[in-house]
Amino acid sequence: MTDSIDPNARALPKITTGIRVIVAVTGGIAAYKACELIRLLTARGADVLVVMTENAEHFVGSTTFQALSGKPVRSSLWDAAAEAAMGHIELARWAQLLVIAPATANCLAKLAAGFASDLLGTLCLATPAPVVLAPAMNQQMYAHPAVQANLAKLSTLGYLNLGVGIGAQACGDVGAGRMLEPAEILLRLDAHAGNATPPTGGLHGKRVLISAGPTLEDLDPVRFIGNRSSGKMGYAIAEAAQQLGAEVTLISGPCKLSVPAHCKVIQIRSAQQLLEHMQAHAAQADIIVAAAAVADYRPAQLSEAKLKKTGDRIQIELVKNPDVIATIAHSLRAAQKTTLLIGFAAETNDVLAHARNKLERKQLDWIAANQVSSELGMDADDNALTLISAEHEIALGRAPKTELARRFWQTLLAHSRLAQPEGT
Ligand code: CTP
Repeated sequence: MTDSIDPNARALPKITTGIRVIVAVTGGIAAYKACELIRLLTARGADVLVVMTENAEHFVGSTTFQALSGKPVRSSLWDAAAEAAMGHIELARWAQLLVIAPATANCLAKLAAGFASDLLGTLCLATPAPVVLAPAMNQQMYAHPAVQANLAKLSTLGYLNLGVGIGAQACGDVGAGRMLEPAEILLRLDAHAGNATPPTGGLHGKRVLISAGPTLEDLDPVRFIGNRSSGKMGYAIAEAAQQLGAEVTLISGPCKLSVPAHCKVIQIRSAQQLLEHMQAHAAQADIIVAAAAVADYRPAQLSEAKLKKTGDRIQIELVKNPDVIATIAHSLRAAQKTTLLIGFAAETNDVLAHARNKLERKQLDWIAANQVSSELGMDADDNALTLISAEHEIALGRAPKTELARRFWQTLLAHSRLAQPEGT
Protein backbone atom coordinates (compact mmCIF):
# COMPACT_ATOMS: atom_id res chain seq x y z
CA MET A 1 0.00 0.00 0.00
CA THR A 2 2.80 2.38 -0.82
CA ASP A 3 2.15 5.51 -2.81
CA SER A 4 5.28 6.08 -4.81
CA ILE A 5 6.45 8.91 -6.99
CA ASP A 6 6.06 7.70 -10.50
CA PRO A 7 8.53 8.84 -13.10
CA ASN A 8 6.03 7.75 -15.80
CA ALA A 9 3.33 10.14 -14.62
CA ARG A 10 2.57 12.98 -17.00
CA ALA A 11 3.19 16.47 -15.58
CA LEU A 12 0.03 17.87 -14.04
CA PRO A 13 -1.24 21.27 -15.14
CA LYS A 14 -2.04 23.90 -12.49
CA ILE A 15 -5.70 24.17 -11.53
CA THR A 16 -6.37 27.73 -12.67
CA THR A 17 -9.07 29.63 -14.56
CA GLY A 18 -10.07 28.00 -17.80
CA ILE A 19 -8.34 24.65 -17.32
CA ARG A 20 -10.42 21.89 -18.93
CA VAL A 21 -11.00 19.02 -16.52
CA ILE A 22 -12.95 15.81 -16.94
CA VAL A 23 -14.15 14.46 -13.60
CA ALA A 24 -14.99 10.79 -14.09
CA VAL A 25 -17.28 9.21 -11.52
CA THR A 26 -17.42 5.44 -11.17
CA GLY A 27 -19.85 3.29 -9.20
CA GLY A 28 -19.03 3.51 -5.50
CA ILE A 29 -20.70 5.12 -2.52
CA ALA A 30 -17.98 7.81 -2.53
CA ALA A 31 -19.58 9.10 -5.78
CA TYR A 32 -21.40 11.65 -3.64
CA LYS A 33 -18.04 13.21 -2.73
CA ALA A 34 -17.45 13.96 -6.42
CA CYS A 35 -20.10 16.69 -6.09
CA GLU A 36 -17.87 18.65 -3.71
CA LEU A 37 -14.82 18.02 -5.88
CA ILE A 38 -16.62 19.50 -8.90
CA ARG A 39 -17.72 22.47 -6.80
CA LEU A 40 -14.14 23.11 -5.63
CA LEU A 41 -12.75 22.81 -9.16
CA THR A 42 -15.35 25.16 -10.66
CA ALA A 43 -14.75 27.61 -7.78
CA ARG A 44 -11.13 27.73 -9.00
CA GLY A 45 -12.39 28.62 -12.47
CA ALA A 46 -11.92 25.16 -14.01
CA ASP A 47 -14.11 24.19 -16.96
CA VAL A 48 -15.45 20.84 -15.71
CA LEU A 49 -17.19 18.14 -17.70
CA VAL A 50 -18.47 15.05 -15.88
CA VAL A 51 -18.25 11.53 -17.25
CA MET A 52 -20.14 8.80 -15.40
CA THR A 53 -20.01 5.06 -15.73
CA GLU A 54 -23.25 3.14 -15.87
CA ASN A 55 -22.70 1.89 -12.31
CA ALA A 56 -22.15 5.42 -10.99
CA GLU A 57 -25.71 6.32 -11.92
CA HIS A 58 -26.88 3.95 -9.17
CA PHE A 59 -25.34 6.31 -6.62
CA VAL A 60 -25.79 9.91 -7.84
CA GLY A 61 -28.09 11.12 -10.60
CA SER A 62 -26.58 12.84 -13.64
CA THR A 63 -28.85 15.89 -13.08
CA THR A 64 -26.83 16.77 -9.96
CA PHE A 65 -23.54 16.65 -11.85
CA GLN A 66 -25.03 18.56 -14.76
CA ALA A 67 -26.17 21.33 -12.43
CA LEU A 68 -22.80 21.52 -10.69
CA SER A 69 -20.69 21.51 -13.86
CA GLY A 70 -23.08 23.48 -16.05
CA LYS A 71 -22.60 20.94 -18.83
CA PRO A 72 -24.42 17.83 -20.01
CA VAL A 73 -22.99 14.70 -18.40
CA ARG A 74 -21.45 12.09 -20.70
CA SER A 75 -21.95 8.45 -19.86
CA SER A 76 -22.17 6.39 -23.00
CA LEU A 77 -20.23 5.75 -26.16
CA TRP A 78 -23.55 5.24 -27.90
CA ASP A 79 -25.24 8.59 -27.20
CA ALA A 80 -25.71 9.81 -30.78
CA ALA A 81 -26.64 13.39 -29.85
CA ALA A 82 -23.66 13.82 -27.49
CA GLU A 83 -21.27 12.20 -29.95
CA ALA A 84 -22.51 14.53 -32.68
CA ALA A 85 -21.75 17.54 -30.45
CA MET A 86 -18.30 16.28 -29.41
CA GLY A 87 -17.13 12.80 -30.34
CA HIS A 88 -15.31 10.75 -27.69
CA ILE A 89 -11.90 11.22 -29.30
CA GLU A 90 -12.51 14.95 -29.49
CA LEU A 91 -13.51 14.84 -25.81
CA ALA A 92 -10.32 12.96 -24.95
CA ARG A 93 -8.32 15.70 -26.70
CA TRP A 94 -10.39 18.50 -25.08
CA ALA A 95 -9.37 17.46 -21.56
CA GLN A 96 -6.22 18.92 -20.02
CA LEU A 97 -6.70 16.76 -16.93
CA LEU A 98 -8.82 13.69 -16.19
CA VAL A 99 -9.57 12.95 -12.54
CA ILE A 100 -11.29 9.65 -11.70
CA ALA A 101 -12.98 10.12 -8.34
CA PRO A 102 -13.99 7.69 -7.01
CA ALA A 103 -12.00 5.02 -8.86
CA THR A 104 -13.48 1.67 -7.83
CA ALA A 105 -11.62 -1.66 -7.78
CA ASN A 106 -13.50 -2.62 -10.93
CA CYS A 107 -12.49 0.59 -12.68
CA LEU A 108 -8.83 0.08 -11.71
CA ALA A 109 -8.89 -3.48 -13.06
CA LYS A 110 -10.39 -2.38 -16.38
CA LEU A 111 -7.93 0.48 -16.79
CA ALA A 112 -4.97 -1.74 -15.87
CA ALA A 113 -6.06 -4.19 -18.57
CA GLY A 114 -6.62 -1.37 -21.09
CA PHE A 115 -10.31 -2.07 -21.75
CA ALA A 116 -12.14 0.34 -24.05
CA SER A 117 -15.55 -1.19 -23.39
CA ASP A 118 -17.13 2.04 -22.14
CA LEU A 119 -16.70 5.78 -22.53
CA LEU A 120 -14.31 6.17 -19.57
CA GLY A 121 -12.01 3.33 -20.67
CA THR A 122 -11.90 4.78 -24.18
CA LEU A 123 -11.14 8.28 -22.91
CA CYS A 124 -8.31 7.02 -20.74
CA LEU A 125 -6.66 5.34 -23.70
CA ALA A 126 -7.27 8.22 -26.09
CA THR A 127 -6.41 11.24 -23.98
CA PRO A 128 -2.99 12.87 -24.05
CA ALA A 129 -3.86 14.49 -20.68
CA PRO A 130 -2.66 13.18 -17.31
CA VAL A 131 -5.11 10.76 -15.68
CA VAL A 132 -5.34 10.94 -11.90
CA LEU A 133 -6.89 8.28 -9.66
CA ALA A 134 -8.64 8.80 -6.34
CA PRO A 135 -9.38 5.16 -5.41
CA ALA A 136 -12.24 4.28 -3.07
CA MET A 137 -13.29 0.89 -1.82
CA ASN A 138 -13.68 -1.33 1.22
CA GLN A 139 -10.42 -1.67 3.17
CA GLN A 140 -10.22 -5.44 2.62
CA MET A 141 -10.66 -4.93 -1.11
CA TYR A 142 -8.05 -2.16 -1.15
CA ALA A 143 -5.54 -4.43 0.61
CA HIS A 144 -6.18 -7.28 -1.84
CA PRO A 145 -3.07 -8.16 -3.88
CA ALA A 146 -5.09 -7.95 -7.11
CA VAL A 147 -6.01 -4.32 -6.41
CA GLN A 148 -2.48 -3.46 -5.30
CA ALA A 149 -1.07 -5.12 -8.43
CA ASN A 150 -3.47 -3.12 -10.61
CA LEU A 151 -2.43 0.11 -8.89
CA ALA A 152 1.23 -0.74 -9.38
CA LYS A 153 0.62 -1.51 -13.06
CA LEU A 154 -1.40 1.69 -13.54
CA SER A 155 1.47 3.63 -12.09
CA THR A 156 3.87 2.15 -14.64
CA LEU A 157 1.32 3.04 -17.34
CA GLY A 158 1.52 6.70 -16.34
CA TYR A 159 -1.60 7.04 -14.17
CA LEU A 160 -1.10 9.14 -11.04
CA ASN A 161 -2.52 7.58 -7.87
CA LEU A 162 -3.34 10.23 -5.28
CA GLY A 163 -3.76 7.61 -2.55
CA VAL A 164 -6.62 6.88 -0.14
CA GLY A 165 -7.83 7.98 3.26
CA ILE A 166 -7.89 5.87 6.41
CA GLY A 167 -10.86 5.68 8.72
CA ALA A 168 -14.47 4.59 9.11
CA GLN A 169 -16.05 3.34 5.91
CA ALA A 170 -19.64 3.41 4.68
CA CYS A 171 -19.75 -0.40 5.06
CA GLY A 172 -18.85 -0.16 8.77
CA ASP A 173 -15.23 -1.27 8.39
CA VAL A 174 -12.32 0.87 9.49
CA GLY A 175 -9.09 1.03 7.53
CA ALA A 176 -7.37 2.32 4.38
CA GLY A 177 -9.59 2.64 1.30
CA ARG A 178 -11.82 5.69 1.73
CA MET A 179 -11.73 8.21 -1.04
CA LEU A 180 -9.64 11.25 -0.12
CA GLU A 181 -11.69 14.26 0.90
CA PRO A 182 -12.23 16.59 -2.09
CA ALA A 183 -10.18 19.38 -0.48
CA GLU A 184 -7.33 16.90 0.03
CA ILE A 185 -7.58 15.82 -3.63
CA LEU A 186 -7.20 19.43 -4.67
CA LEU A 187 -4.22 19.90 -2.33
CA ARG A 188 -2.53 16.86 -3.82
CA LEU A 189 -3.25 18.01 -7.38
CA ASP A 190 -1.66 21.34 -6.46
CA ALA A 191 1.34 19.62 -4.92
CA HIS A 192 1.87 17.59 -8.08
CA ALA A 193 1.21 20.40 -10.54
CA GLY A 194 4.19 20.87 -12.79
CA ASN A 195 6.19 18.54 -10.60
CA ALA A 196 6.30 14.99 -11.85
CA THR A 197 9.95 14.57 -10.92
CA PRO A 198 11.05 13.27 -7.52
CA PRO A 199 11.43 16.08 -4.99
CA THR A 200 14.84 16.93 -3.65
CA GLY A 201 15.59 18.66 -0.42
CA GLY A 202 17.50 18.55 2.79
CA LEU A 203 16.37 15.00 3.56
CA HIS A 204 17.07 13.58 0.13
CA GLY A 205 18.41 10.04 0.45
CA LYS A 206 17.43 9.76 4.13
CA ARG A 207 15.17 7.01 5.40
CA VAL A 208 12.83 8.37 8.04
CA LEU A 209 10.77 6.14 10.34
CA ILE A 210 7.91 7.89 12.14
CA SER A 211 5.37 6.62 14.68
CA ALA A 212 2.10 8.53 15.00
CA GLY A 213 -1.34 8.48 16.58
CA PRO A 214 -2.55 6.67 19.67
CA THR A 215 -2.17 3.06 20.66
CA LEU A 216 -5.35 1.30 21.74
CA GLU A 217 -5.16 -1.44 24.34
CA ASP A 218 -8.04 -3.88 24.12
CA LEU A 219 -9.94 -5.02 27.16
CA ASP A 220 -12.55 -7.14 25.39
CA PRO A 221 -13.97 -7.28 21.85
CA VAL A 222 -15.76 -3.93 22.26
CA ARG A 223 -13.70 -1.93 24.77
CA PHE A 224 -10.23 -0.53 24.88
CA ILE A 225 -8.05 1.94 26.74
CA GLY A 226 -6.91 4.74 24.47
CA ASN A 227 -5.97 8.39 24.40
CA ARG A 228 -6.93 11.55 22.52
CA SER A 229 -4.03 11.63 20.06
CA SER A 230 -5.31 12.40 16.54
CA GLY A 231 -2.03 11.62 14.76
CA LYS A 232 -2.04 15.06 13.10
CA MET A 233 1.45 16.06 14.32
CA GLY A 234 3.11 12.78 13.28
CA TYR A 235 1.35 12.75 9.90
CA ALA A 236 2.38 16.38 9.27
CA ILE A 237 5.99 15.49 10.11
CA ALA A 238 5.82 12.52 7.73
CA GLU A 239 4.43 14.67 4.91
CA ALA A 240 6.99 17.42 5.47
CA ALA A 241 9.85 14.87 5.52
CA GLN A 242 8.64 13.38 2.24
CA GLN A 243 8.46 16.84 0.69
CA LEU A 244 12.09 17.36 1.70
CA GLY A 245 13.01 14.25 -0.25
CA ALA A 246 13.05 11.60 2.50
CA GLU A 247 11.87 8.04 2.03
CA VAL A 248 9.24 7.86 4.77
CA THR A 249 7.76 4.90 6.64
CA LEU A 250 4.89 5.88 8.92
CA ILE A 251 3.73 3.43 11.58
CA SER A 252 0.34 4.63 12.65
CA GLY A 253 -2.10 3.86 15.40
CA PRO A 254 -5.81 4.15 14.51
CA CYS A 255 -6.37 7.68 13.09
CA LYS A 256 -9.01 9.31 10.91
CA LEU A 257 -6.50 10.96 8.60
CA SER A 258 -5.61 10.62 4.95
CA VAL A 259 -2.50 8.63 4.16
CA PRO A 260 0.27 11.16 3.42
CA ALA A 261 1.20 10.99 -0.26
CA HIS A 262 4.24 8.88 -1.13
CA CYS A 263 4.75 7.50 2.38
CA LYS A 264 4.70 3.82 3.21
CA VAL A 265 2.08 3.42 5.93
CA ILE A 266 1.84 0.50 8.35
CA GLN A 267 -1.17 0.41 10.62
CA ILE A 268 -0.95 -0.91 14.16
CA ARG A 269 -3.29 -0.92 17.14
CA SER A 270 -1.43 -1.69 20.35
CA ALA A 271 1.90 -0.66 21.88
CA GLN A 272 3.20 -4.19 21.43
CA GLN A 273 2.40 -4.12 17.71
CA LEU A 274 4.06 -0.71 17.47
CA LEU A 275 7.20 -2.12 19.08
CA GLU A 276 7.28 -5.10 16.70
CA HIS A 277 7.02 -2.93 13.57
CA MET A 278 9.41 -0.26 14.85
CA GLN A 279 11.95 -2.99 15.62
CA ALA A 280 11.53 -4.45 12.15
CA HIS A 281 12.28 -1.09 10.50
CA ALA A 282 14.63 0.69 12.94
CA ALA A 283 17.94 -0.70 11.72
CA GLN A 284 17.37 0.59 8.17
CA ALA A 285 16.35 4.10 9.28
CA ASP A 286 18.62 7.15 9.34
CA ILE A 287 16.18 9.13 11.45
CA ILE A 288 13.45 7.94 13.83
CA VAL A 289 10.70 10.26 15.08
CA ALA A 290 8.54 8.84 17.88
CA ALA A 291 5.41 10.98 17.74
CA ALA A 292 2.99 8.22 18.79
CA ALA A 293 1.12 8.63 22.06
CA VAL A 294 1.85 5.18 23.39
CA ALA A 295 -0.36 3.79 26.16
CA ASP A 296 1.87 3.20 29.16
CA TYR A 297 -0.29 0.32 30.43
CA ARG A 298 -2.53 -2.35 28.93
CA PRO A 299 -5.15 -4.58 30.53
CA ALA A 300 -3.48 -7.60 32.13
CA GLN A 301 -6.09 -9.84 30.51
CA LEU A 302 -7.79 -9.60 27.16
CA SER A 303 -11.24 -11.11 27.52
CA GLU A 304 -12.45 -13.01 24.45
CA ALA A 305 -16.06 -12.41 25.45
CA LYS A 306 -17.63 -9.03 26.17
CA LEU A 307 -17.28 -8.31 29.89
CA LYS A 308 -20.67 -8.22 31.62
CA LYS A 309 -21.81 -5.63 34.11
CA THR A 310 -21.30 -6.82 37.72
CA GLY A 311 -21.03 -4.85 40.99
CA ASP A 312 -21.01 -1.09 41.55
CA ARG A 313 -17.24 -0.99 41.31
CA ILE A 314 -14.87 -3.12 39.35
CA GLN A 315 -11.11 -3.21 39.17
CA ILE A 316 -9.14 -3.67 36.01
CA GLU A 317 -5.59 -4.81 36.42
CA LEU A 318 -3.13 -3.11 34.09
CA VAL A 319 0.39 -4.15 33.23
CA LYS A 320 3.17 -1.93 31.92
CA ASN A 321 3.74 -1.69 28.18
CA PRO A 322 7.27 -1.69 26.79
CA ASP A 323 8.77 1.76 26.27
CA VAL A 324 9.01 1.55 22.50
CA ILE A 325 11.44 4.36 21.72
CA ALA A 326 13.64 3.60 24.76
CA THR A 327 13.88 -0.06 23.70
CA ILE A 328 14.77 0.93 20.12
CA ALA A 329 17.30 3.51 21.33
CA HIS A 330 18.91 0.98 23.65
CA SER A 331 19.49 -1.58 20.91
CA LEU A 332 20.62 0.98 18.29
CA ARG A 333 23.09 2.54 20.76
CA ALA A 334 24.36 -0.93 21.70
CA ALA A 335 24.95 -1.63 18.00
CA GLN A 336 26.75 1.75 17.75
CA LYS A 337 24.31 3.02 15.14
CA THR A 338 24.27 6.78 14.54
CA THR A 339 20.52 6.93 13.86
CA LEU A 340 19.13 10.34 14.82
CA LEU A 341 16.45 9.72 17.45
CA ILE A 342 13.74 12.25 18.19
CA GLY A 343 10.99 11.78 20.76
CA PHE A 344 7.99 13.80 21.84
CA ALA A 345 6.95 14.84 25.31
CA ALA A 346 3.40 16.04 25.82
CA GLU A 347 3.13 17.51 29.30
CA THR A 348 0.62 19.49 31.31
CA ASN A 349 3.14 20.99 33.75
CA ASP A 350 6.91 21.54 34.13
CA VAL A 351 7.09 20.88 30.41
CA LEU A 352 10.77 21.54 29.75
CA ALA A 353 12.03 19.77 32.89
CA HIS A 354 9.98 16.63 32.18
CA ALA A 355 11.05 16.70 28.54
CA ARG A 356 14.75 16.96 29.43
CA ASN A 357 14.34 14.05 31.79
CA LYS A 358 12.82 11.91 29.00
CA LEU A 359 15.55 12.98 26.58
CA GLU A 360 18.20 11.52 28.87
CA ARG A 361 16.24 8.56 30.21
CA LYS A 362 15.35 7.33 26.71
CA GLN A 363 18.81 8.07 25.18
CA LEU A 364 17.38 10.39 22.52
CA ASP A 365 19.17 13.06 20.49
CA TRP A 366 16.24 15.47 20.55
CA ILE A 367 12.87 15.75 22.18
CA ALA A 368 10.00 17.92 20.99
CA ALA A 369 8.25 19.25 24.08
CA ASN A 370 4.75 20.59 24.08
CA GLN A 371 2.25 21.73 26.65
CA VAL A 372 -1.09 19.99 26.35
CA SER A 373 -4.18 22.14 26.85
CA SER A 374 -7.70 22.33 25.44
CA GLU A 375 -6.50 24.44 22.46
CA LEU A 376 -3.05 23.01 21.91
CA GLY A 377 -1.47 19.62 21.46
CA MET A 378 -3.50 16.43 21.45
CA ASP A 379 -6.40 16.38 19.00
CA ALA A 380 -6.00 20.13 18.23
CA ASP A 381 -4.98 21.65 14.88
CA ASP A 382 -2.41 23.94 16.50
CA ASN A 383 0.56 23.08 18.62
CA ALA A 384 3.52 24.85 20.23
CA LEU A 385 6.80 22.94 20.26
CA THR A 386 10.24 23.40 21.76
CA LEU A 387 13.03 21.22 20.36
CA ILE A 388 15.50 20.22 23.03
CA SER A 389 18.85 18.45 22.76
CA ALA A 390 21.81 18.23 25.12
CA GLU A 391 23.09 21.56 23.72
CA HIS A 392 19.98 23.31 22.44
CA GLU A 393 16.58 24.56 23.47
CA ILE A 394 14.84 26.01 20.41
CA ALA A 395 11.26 27.26 20.58
CA LEU A 396 9.41 26.69 17.30
CA GLY A 397 6.49 28.85 18.39
CA ARG A 398 2.77 28.25 18.16
CA ALA A 399 1.39 27.40 14.72
CA PRO A 400 -0.78 24.91 12.79
CA LYS A 401 0.78 21.46 12.94
CA THR A 402 1.59 21.47 9.21
CA GLU A 403 3.64 24.66 9.63
CA LEU A 404 5.29 23.34 12.80
CA ALA A 405 6.30 20.19 10.92
CA ARG A 406 8.20 22.36 8.41
CA ARG A 407 9.89 24.29 11.24
CA PHE A 408 10.69 20.98 12.98
CA TRP A 409 12.72 19.74 9.98
CA GLN A 410 14.25 23.16 9.25
CA THR A 411 15.52 23.30 12.83
CA LEU A 412 16.92 19.78 12.78
CA LEU A 413 18.56 20.41 9.40
CA ALA A 414 20.21 23.52 10.78
CA HIS A 415 21.19 22.37 14.26
CA SER A 416 21.52 18.58 14.37
CA ARG A 417 24.16 16.37 12.82
CA LEU A 418 21.91 16.25 9.73
CA ALA A 419 23.44 19.63 8.99
CA GLN A 420 26.90 18.09 8.57
CA PRO A 421 28.25 15.62 6.05
CA GLU A 422 27.97 11.96 7.10
CA GLY A 423 30.63 10.85 9.55
CA THR A 424 31.76 14.27 10.76
N1 CTP B 1 6.97 6.35 24.27
C1 CTP B 1 7.24 5.08 23.84
N2 CTP B 1 6.73 4.00 24.51
C2 CTP B 1 6.00 4.18 25.64
C3 CTP B 1 5.72 5.49 26.08
C4 CTP B 1 6.22 6.55 25.37
O1 CTP B 1 7.90 4.90 22.81
N3 CTP B 1 5.52 3.12 26.27
C5 CTP B 1 7.56 7.48 23.53
C6 CTP B 1 6.58 8.43 22.89
O2 CTP B 1 6.34 8.07 21.53
C7 CTP B 1 7.30 9.76 23.00
C8 CTP B 1 8.12 9.64 24.25
O3 CTP B 1 8.29 8.25 24.48
O4 CTP B 1 8.20 9.98 21.93
C9 CTP B 1 7.53 10.27 25.49
O5 CTP B 1 6.21 9.83 25.64
P1 CTP B 1 5.34 10.32 26.90
O6 CTP B 1 4.03 9.64 26.86
O7 CTP B 1 5.36 11.83 26.93
O8 CTP B 1 6.23 9.83 28.11
P2 CTP B 1 6.23 8.55 29.00
O9 CTP B 1 7.50 7.83 28.76
O10 CTP B 1 4.97 7.78 28.82
O11 CTP B 1 6.31 9.18 30.46
P3 CTP B 1 5.16 9.76 31.42
O12 CTP B 1 3.99 8.83 31.30
O13 CTP B 1 5.81 9.72 32.75
O14 CTP B 1 4.88 11.15 30.96
